Formats: sequence, C-alpha cells, structure tokens
Amino acid sequence: MTQTDKVFSGAIPEFYERYLVPLIFHPYALDLAARVTSAKPKRVLEIAAGTGVVTRALASQLPVTTQIVATDLNPPMLEHAKTLMGQNDRIEWKTADAQSLPFENESFDAVVCQFGVMFFSDKAQAFKEARRVLKSSGLYYFSVWDKISNNEFAELVTQAVEEMFPQDPPRFLARTPHGHYDVGLLRPALQAAGFTSISADAIDARSRAPSPREPALAYVQGTPLRNEIEARDPARLEEATIRATEAIAGRFSTGPVDGQIRAYVVTASA
Ligand SMILES: C[S@@+](CC[C@H](N)C(=O)[O-])C[C@H]1O[C@@H](n2cnc3c(N)ncnc32)[C@H](O)[C@@H]1O
Repeated sequence: MTQTDKVFSGAIPEFYERYLVPLIFHPYALDLAARVTSAKPKRVLEIAAGTGVVTRALASQLPVTTQIVATDLNPPMLEHAKTLMGQNDRIEWKTADAQSLPFENESFDAVVCQFGVMFFSDKAQAFKEARRVLKSSGLYYFSVWDKISNNEFAELVTQAVEEMFPQDPPRFLARTPHGHYDVGLLRPALQAAGFTSISADAIDARSRAPSPREPALAYVQGTPLRNEIEARDPARLEEATIRATEAIAGRFSTGPVDGQIRAYVVTASA
C-alpha cells in the first residue's frame, strides 16, 4: 500500500458518495447492518465509516436506544457523512485511526467496518484494537472485496488506466481494495488478537448503472486511484475517465450496465 491509498479527500468524498456508494457499497451496507441488528447490541462502534452508508443503514435498522459511534481516519469523509445524516442525537462522530482507537477497553457490544480493513497498514494492530474495545462475547463484523477478477468494472477500469501509463501503471484498485481477499491470511491475526468463532460468507451482488460513464467516474474520480493518476499527470484525469468508460462500454453496453461484484463478510467473536 502506498501513502496515497488511504487519502480520501479533495473531490473524492463527493464522487465517492454520488457514484460509488450506489454502485457497490449500498447493498453490502444493508446486509451488514442487518447482521449487526440481529445481535441486539446496545452500543456500536463503526470504523472507517466513510461517507456513512453503513451508519445510515444502522440508524434505520437498530432500535433508537442503540448508541452508534461512527469513526474514520479522513475528516472530509466523516464531514460528508454527518451532513447526509443530519441531526441525530444518538450518533457520535469522531475522527479515529483504526490502529489506535480513542476508546476505553470493553466499551462496545459490536464493532463494524465495511471495506476498511484493506486500508489498514497494520491489520494485526487494528484487530487488537477492535478486540480491546469490545466487551467479552461482543462481535466484530468486517468486509473485504474479493479478487479484482470477480469485480468486473474495477478490473476493466484498472486495465484501461494501465494502458495510459504502461511504464508506471496505477494499480490502486488491484493492490488495496481488491488485494486482501484471502480471509485465511487474516485469520491468524484475528486469532492472535483474541477473536474466536471466525466465519466468512462470500456475498455476490450486482453493480448497476444507467451508462458506462457512472462506473468510470466512480472508480477513476471517487477513489484514491484519482490520486495516483493526478500524481502522474493531473491533466489526464478526464482522459482516464473516458478510456474507462470506453472499456466498460466495449465489454457491456453504451446503455445500462450490470456487472458482477463479490465480497467476503467476516464475523468474529471477542
Ligand atoms: C472504501 S472506504 C469504505 C467506507 C465505508 N465504510 C463504506 O462502506 O462506504 C475506506 C475508508 O477507510 C478509511 N480509512 C483508511 N485508513 C483508515 C484507518 N487507518 N483508520 C480508519 N479509517 C481508515 C478511509 O478514510 C475510507 O473512508
């Protein structure tokens, strides 16, 4: 992982929320919130909340008496989430690094993290922190994307952008969001942190958009892939978006598109 892989700022939060959330995050957020709700927690910590798609799902599914603390490393993402949520007294927002959580030991019944673990440079430390803040028998829920070949638009975008910079291809999507899908490799670090009853479910969903331009905008301009492209040539962001659009149109259609996405949802007990 490079330093810019975890930088979600500037124009990224807006493009992320507008294009990427409906395309790939929303169905998984509903599923994750339902899993958390079924455990009837009284106090929930969300890590890497981003623009708040899971926070909003938790707020609508959990009883009003359940407290939610929503955190993220990047304040611009959390600001976006706060604005979208509006006034809601049972949600506390806090900037926090997953590897150094600013909370007391054993202060939550559930910890939830949708598609954030791949961004933690020290995953073992992040797992220890999740375990530390969980009460005994509390549950940790997190998700990771499957390999890029099972996530069609992400793969097409990566190939299109690679062709623009063959000497130094921007590989953010393959390296980080789609680079940590082997739950077998994460399991020893979870066990070392003190988690037991670790299970993982593969969940397939569809990624749908009215035209190929939306997934291109989502991945090229709404993720840190944007940082990588701009570091090589800031004037070529629109060209990258057009090339990604053409790649998706060539494989799918110039009209509505419908691609495969696949992720793993992991549950572990403290
Ligand atoms: C792909 S987004 C997921 C956001 C949200 N959970 C969702 O489902 O839309 C990854 C998030 O991880 C956050 N992040 C990256 N490194 C982090 C860290 N060390 N601690 C906490 N959050 C981090 C980023 O700011 C970003 O909001």
